[in-house]
Amino acid sequence: MTILVTGGAGFIGSNFVLDWLRGSDEPVVNLDALTYAGNLENLASLDGDARHVFVRGDIGDRALVDTLLAEHRPRAVVHFAAESHVDRSIHGPGEFIRTNVNGTYTLLEAARGFWSTLPEAERAQFRFHHVSTDEVYGSLAPDAPAFTETHPYEPNSPYSASKAASDHLVRAWHHTYGLPVVTTNCSNNYGPFHFPEKLIPLLIVNALAGKPLPVYGDGRQVRDWLYVGDHCSAIRTVLERGRPGETYNVGGWNEKPNIEIVHTVCALLDELRPDPAGPHARLITHVKDRPGHDRRYAIDARKIERELGWRPAETFETGIRKTVAWYLDHADWVARVQSGAYRDWLQRHYGETA
Ligand code: NAD
Ligand code: DAU
Repeated sequence: MTILVTGGAGFIGSNFVLDWLRGSDEPVVNLDALTYAGNLENLASLDGDARHVFVRGDIGDRALVDTLLAEHRPRAVVHFAAESHVDRSIHGPGEFIRTNVNGTYTLLEAARGFWSTLPEAERAQFRFHHVSTDEVYGSLAPDAPAFTETHPYEPNSPYSASKAASDHLVRAWHHTYGLPVVTTNCSNNYGPFHFPEKLIPLLIVNALAGKPLPVYGDGRQVRDWLYVGDHCSAIRTVLERGRPGETYNVGGWNEKPNIEIVHTVCALLDELRPDPAGPHARLITHVKDRPGHDRRYAIDARKIERELGWRPAETFETGIRKTVAWYLDHADWVARVQSGAYRDWLQRHYGETA
């Protein structure tokens, strides 16, 4: 048996592939276009491991996806590939529509084509697992209850609108064609291999370099943080036991205002890597707010706990300490991401710069 993972060289995808192969010998075919966000160095520990088959390619390439499905005959597709950064979606939404909407459509059609040829028993077992986000639900008022799976969709950014569109396509492919899909809508992840354009890794790498720590607006926006390893275990759980056609919200029960995250990271760095120039919090700088910035996200993760018995293993305190320690221990990874040297691998292996 085999699974096909898309976007497995990105932040969550690479954590998922590593976790999967730590716990199972079931091979992974990893289809990733290696955009700026894809970094094969995240998977360096799998070099020479026959259980990991990496294919550089686009989810929107129907012929390629058809070939991979026919050759490897996966029992499941786990779909991470996406443009994922809200700020980039504000500056250039086109790629978000191309990958998140059109790419998901192509992948669904290819999966449907393959699935419809399977014998009855395999058809029932097949899964298309769509990895989505809490941002599709929009922004919560300060005292509103957390998002449940039935919360109305109100996406506010080009990114969240593109993810909402992909969620709707996935739902429709189940409803109309019977494709056995499951969707997870997860809150903000953090942990190893997080690209330093997102808040937590950006804070760590900037603080270590003595650079300003940019806080958008008043910093009182609330996010619900989940350690990436817990997201991976939730996906494995839903893939194994989730009911086709269902969606499951995944979150860490860790609602925190951004400014509190900033102070926590600064305090951990003061403890683990004190700066002779003074406390890291001196670098905090309030900057212009993100346009259309959602004020609050919070996930009600009771359904996945009640139906499938999943709960996060990490608290925010344990997860953020591990994360800061990981960045301190992986200065080389950070340096190669920041200099762009991680992309040299592409040149060496594919003879091109992407
Ligand atoms: P990421 O940006 O780190 O990685 C995305 C990966 O997809 C990269 O490896 C990139 O090369 C690949 N990719 C992009 N376009 C592609 C294409 N057209 N074809 C093939 N591969 C392509 O993203 P991430 O943070 O790891 O997020 C993964 C998934 O999880 C996304 O679908 C995202 O919406 C969702 N999600 C993320 C979070 C979070 O906090 N990061 C939370 C909830 C859900
Ligand atoms: O909620 C899940 C989503 O979380 C995922 O779907 C997205 O793919 C992922 O990127 C993330 O989106 P956010 O916009 O919440 O993450 P980001 O790290 O960009 O920002 C977190 C919060 O911090 C947000 O309120 C904006 C703020 N921020 C961000 C950056 C990069 C700052 O104040 N300063 C910054 O420099």
